[in-house]
Amino acid sequence: MKVAVIGANGQLGTDLCEVFAERHEVVPLTHAEIEITDLEGSRQVLKEISAHLVLCTAAAHNVPKCESEPEQAFRVNGIGSLNLAKLSAELGFKLVQYSTDYVFDGTKGKPYVETDAVAPQSVYAITKYAGEQFIRNYCEQYFIIRVSGIYGKVPCRAKNHTNFVVNMIQAAASKPEVRVVTDEVLTPTPTLEIARNTLALVETDAYGIYHMTCQGEVSWYEFARTIFETLNLKTPLYPASVKDFPAVVKRPFYSVLDNANLRKLGLDFMPHWKDALVSFLKRHYAA
Ligand SMILES: NC(=O)c1ccc[n+]([C@@H]2O[C@H](COP(=O)([O-])OP(=O)(O)OC[C@H]3O[C@@H](n4cnc5c(N)ncnc54)[C@H](OP(=O)(O)O)[C@@H]3O)[C@@H](O)[C@H]2O)c1
Repeated sequence: MKVAVIGANGQLGTDLCEVFAERHEVVPLTHAEIEITDLEGSRQVLKEISAHLVLCTAAAHNVPKCESEPEQAFRVNGIGSLNLAKLSAELGFKLVQYSTDYVFDGTKGKPYVETDAVAPQSVYAITKYAGEQFIRNYCEQYFIIRVSGIYGKVPCRAKNHTNFVVNMIQAAASKPEVRVVTDEVLTPTPTLEIARNTLALVETDAYGIYHMTCQGEVSWYEFARTIFETLNLKTPLYPASVKDFPAVVKRPFYSVLDNANLRKLGLDFMPHWKDALVSFLKRHYAA
């Protein structure tokens, strides 16, 4: 199968390119090569490639920046998704778009399944949800995959080349002590695992919305503690509350996703968050 990866040099895009290249012909597309907000330009690029599958990781997802630049956030997350949906219908490729746990407001208190009502709280979340809706309504061969707290070996480009793991390692090296919240709970997930499970999913025609995160749930504090212990970081780490930090943007404080639809297909291959984290750290950061 010929597979185009949009955002190929991003955090998730890098792992998608590597994993899909083991089984398929991959055409990596960076932002310099495709602009998803430009329908005609995207049509030319994707028509020329004639891919069977397009994996889109492109997003405006610096969350505070989305709040101050809502038009640009809607342009990329909303209109960009609409453009790809129209092109999927016109050119006949399967489309994968990645979305977010932030479509939920966090009040459920139990893991969210795909059929739970959404209540996005911020410009980022609202525009990502708009993107989901455009895709659901403008094409048929789509997989919308909601992920959460992602981290990979190439840190997130939209977040100044960081992710939570990088932030913790840098904080431990530069600060006398580190404080991390205990009352924000989710399931952080490595991009490599998402890429592997996406590969299994797209070989089916079971189109629809999927949650794709690691198993279990964890607070950012507990997640940080595992990083500190695994990498033997000696800087003191203390628990804190979300109330200790100024709230720049509204976000869900409980956004654990249940991979219910993957499980129904027998395709939930995601590992437990702790196993995934420890093996990621050993692979990329251990001395
Ligand atoms: N980070 C998280 O914790 C998290 C959580 C939930 C969901 N997600 C979702 O996961 C996906 C992937 O995130 P990531 O961390 O891999 O992001 P990333 O590292 O910022 O990569 C995004 C890629 O898309 C490109 N891009 C941005 N705008 C574009 C546009 N208008 N047209 C074409 N390409 C464009 C970027 O290029 P340039 O950098 O050169 O612009 C970059 O290569 C996103 O959809 C995000 O919403 C992330």
